[in-house]
Amino acid sequence: MSDAFSREPVWDPRRFPPAARAPRTVQTARMLRDPQGYPRALRDRFGPVFSLRAFPYRGALVCAADADTNRTVLTDHRRFTGGDAAALLAPAVGAGSLICTPPPGHLRRRRLLLPPFHGARIAKWAGRVRELVRTGLPELLAARDGGPVRPWAQRLTLDVILRVVLGLTDPARTAAFRRALTPFVGTANLAVLFLPGPVRRDLGPLSPGGRFHRLRATVRALAREEIAARRAAPDRAHRDDVLSLLLGARDEEGVGPDDDDRLLDELTGLVLAGYETTATTIAWTLHLLAHQPAARDALIADLDTGSDQLLKATLKESSRLRPAVYNAMRTAAHDTELGGRPVPRHAFVAALFPLTHLDPALWPDPDAFRPERHLGPEPAPYALTPFGGGVRRCIGASLAQLETETVLTEVLAAAVPEPAGPPEPPRLVSVTLVPAHGGRVRLRPRGPRDRPPRMS
Ligand code: HEM
Repeated sequence: MSDAFSREPVWDPRRFPPAARAPRTVQTARMLRDPQGYPRALRDRFGPVFSLRAFPYRGALVCAADADTNRTVLTDHRRFTGGDAAALLAPAVGAGSLICTPPPGHLRRRRLLLPPFHGARIAKWAGRVRELVRTGLPELLAARDGGPVRPWAQRLTLDVILRVVLGLTDPARTAAFRRALTPFVGTANLAVLFLPGPVRRDLGPLSPGGRFHRLRATVRALAREEIAARRAAPDRAHRDDVLSLLLGARDEEGVGPDDDDRLLDELTGLVLAGYETTATTIAWTLHLLAHQPAARDALIADLDTGSDQLLKATLKESSRLRPAVYNAMRTAAHDTELGGRPVPRHAFVAALFPLTHLDPALWPDPDAFRPERHLGPEPAPYALTPFGGGVRRCIGASLAQLETETVLTEVLAAAVPEPAGPPEPPRLVSVTLVPAHGGRVRLRPRGPRDRPPRMS
């Protein structure tokens, strides 16, 4: 186990916020079965700060579930430190990635990584993203009989990352990366990270740990070749993909990412942080729209006028109800308190976004899907944080928004999402809240009746 886990304090009800009495195995099973409902019941019972005694924590996960405590966990970096808490993901995203870097190194790294993801630069990628969406759309529409959206969206978001982050344009090279990355980032492979230490080890090619390490080695070998090729590329200075920009970047101490291992970690971190999350948001939004005909029809009508107002509101609403990232993790820097409850040093602390997003004090009728609630004044600070907040806020938010908005615009211009079965409950896969069956949707092609002229 990593340092963060070996330092974790053991359970002591006097030093932690209140917890349910049920054994750890039972609480883990309840979380897996109902990752929104179970912690909600704990919040109703204990208030906005409580302990969840579930695997893999031997103490407890301290949970924050309202806007005030969400803000504290996300922004009070002296008390709640990021980076170490992501240790569990380190073998996949790379121990040297931004996600796994604690302060003080974190801010320096972040300054280096932010410019390639700046909103103005992302806007220039819009054409590339639209092209990829249009290329993939026929495949989604062909499977209009009610298949899950998520696998399609995963292929698309992986292609976007390969194009704009790694800058791949050669189809053979793109295909090689896709072949290596798809099994590596797959749920079954990443589940290895949550297995007990000995099972996670490389025990030969047939063991889960062995498979994980081999897939990881293949991905890293490919990325290493790409870095070497890009370093030598004569046109590097004129390229605007993230890899080329990072190779040209220098941070304030005059250090550039010429350490290939660090760059490899950073690139794998970006792929993993940006691919599954965006795909899941796309799947949830189309699935929720299929089950909300009034909201769906209003959105289609608004898009047909050339507006994107309701589109942005719809994406906020789907991220409120079903945030793709379940929580932000921190560790307590010292013995402290949260919302008046004790938190021992080195305890894991999580801002549980789905709970804050469903807090009835912040969101009237919280379970209803009502995009128009986002058309009025801004919500209370830290009431809606699908991309986190503070100095660890998602650096890929603008890219994710570009992708999700482009997909929704293109899909809804061509088809009307309809239910393909009952609404799917959320399931927790690693830190992602996914639709239980991949977000099944029937896509009915739009006929002349529901196709008013689209403004450019
Ligand atoms: C809808 C899609 C996405 C969602 C919901 C999402 C959500 C988040 C959240 C909640 C955090 C903060 C975690 C924390 O505070 O510990 C985060 C961090 C991060 N995200 Fe995203 N993300 C998305 C897409 C992307 C994309 C497309 C990229 C890049 C290609 C990306 C790269 C990152 C990175 C590097 C961090 C770490 C930032 C830091 O530690 O300073 N994300 N994301």
